[in-house]
Amino acid sequence: MAVKSGRSIGVGLIGFGTIGTGVVKVLAQNAAVIEQRLGFPLKMVAIADLDTETDRKVDLEGVRFDSDAEGLIAAPDVDIVIELVGGYEVAKRFILAAIAAGKPVVTANKALLALHGKEIFAAAEAAGVDVAFEAAVGGGIPILRSLREGLSANHIDSVLGILNGTTNYVLTEMERTEEDFEVVLKRAQELGYAEADPTFDVDGIDAAHKLALLTAMAFGAELTYEQIPTEGIRQLMPIDFELARDFGYKIKLLGIAKCRREDDGVECIEARVHPTMVAAGSMLANVDAAMNAIEVRGDAVGPTLYYGAGAGEMPTASAVVADLIEIARELQRGGSGPVAPLSYLPHHLVPKPLVGLEELSGRFYLRFTAADEPGVLGRIAGALGDEGVGIQSVVQQGGADSPGSVPIIVLTHEASEAGLAAALARVDDEREVTAPTVVVRIEEGE
Ligand code: HSE
Repeated sequence: MAVKSGRSIGVGLIGFGTIGTGVVKVLAQNAAVIEQRLGFPLKMVAIADLDTETDRKVDLEGVRFDSDAEGLIAAPDVDIVIELVGGYEVAKRFILAAIAAGKPVVTANKALLALHGKEIFAAAEAAGVDVAFEAAVGGGIPILRSLREGLSANHIDSVLGILNGTTNYVLTEMERTEEDFEVVLKRAQELGYAEADPTFDVDGIDAAHKLALLTAMAFGAELTYEQIPTEGIRQLMPIDFELARDFGYKIKLLGIAKCRREDDGVECIEARVHPTMVAAGSMLANVDAAMNAIEVRGDAVGPTLYYGAGAGEMPTASAVVADLIEIARELQRGGSGPVAPLSYLPHHLVPKPLVGLEELSGRFYLRFTAADEPGVLGRIAGALGDEGVGIQSVVQQGGADSPGSVPIIVLTHEASEAGLAAALARVDDEREVTAPTVVVRIEEGE
């Protein structure tokens, strides 16, 4: 869809919550600089939300505001539609309706794209309109644009980082205060860092949604977030942070994706989300509170690092408005068709062989919980040894959560995931072992 030169570009917003309010603020407070960059104004002309009562404390003069999302999509003065409803069904319906109306869409909805991205991108391609979603990963960090544009000359070797602000806040606080997970989570909820239902964040699902998008953009690998082995942070206890410090590490929830190119040219993809020990002096270890950081390695550029606010009203709005500006530029040029939203042309975005977790190896921090009885340590060491998992250090602490049980911490040498899984299956079956063993993988810097 081309836009006549000389007129402004009209924006319609569906979903007037925190981020939507931020978008209105950014468009208003930065109207002049946006126009200096675009050559024409970018104007919010219509907003739709079921809640038309709450005062968002922003100036809505000249903006239609009602609950009619379909009417907004159809309105002739709306050139670009922003979807910030969240969730699946309704958001998908609005996005597909906007695409069917020939209107480009901006969304922050990583959960929707991780689940229904294929259908949405195919519809956009067929209709010849853009779907932009910079705000879906890393909040205000322009990580998707960096992959699609700044790093587009590279084979990307790896993308890894802290992709979820809520869990990074909780981990940082657990380390700082030595309090239990539940105590810190409750405080995070009171302070607005965690949702009332924190499942998506603390179980790693939000990070897996984001990693699925990153993996597609970095490697042209089509995968669903359900294919990504994902572990959250609920099982961690203060002792894990204390021991991590003693061993020279910090614990972060990392999303890790790597691409291995075989000699025959086949590319294999490794993708996983789990709590990870990183060297205390590394850059990722020092990304605290709700901040995000993502490291991308390219074959030509080498390592690059992107850091910033991964959530929040204004940082996320910054990414949404950047998408609007990019699309507005494209419309003004005559709308020659959509840019490849996932960086690769759709027919080059294909499923690639996934390396299973059991095929990997690494070093592990293990916390066993066992009755303090003679022979227990020997049986644990025996099971690990039988499966080829060598022990580097052992620490047994007195006092534990369940009476009569003690935490036994083992740091391993490099070992296979398959060997570890076999050893833990045996150990966790022992009568004296009173809780499932907690595993934290160690990511050595390259
Ligand atoms: N819940 C997400 C986070 C919000 O904590 O990172 C931004 O995607």
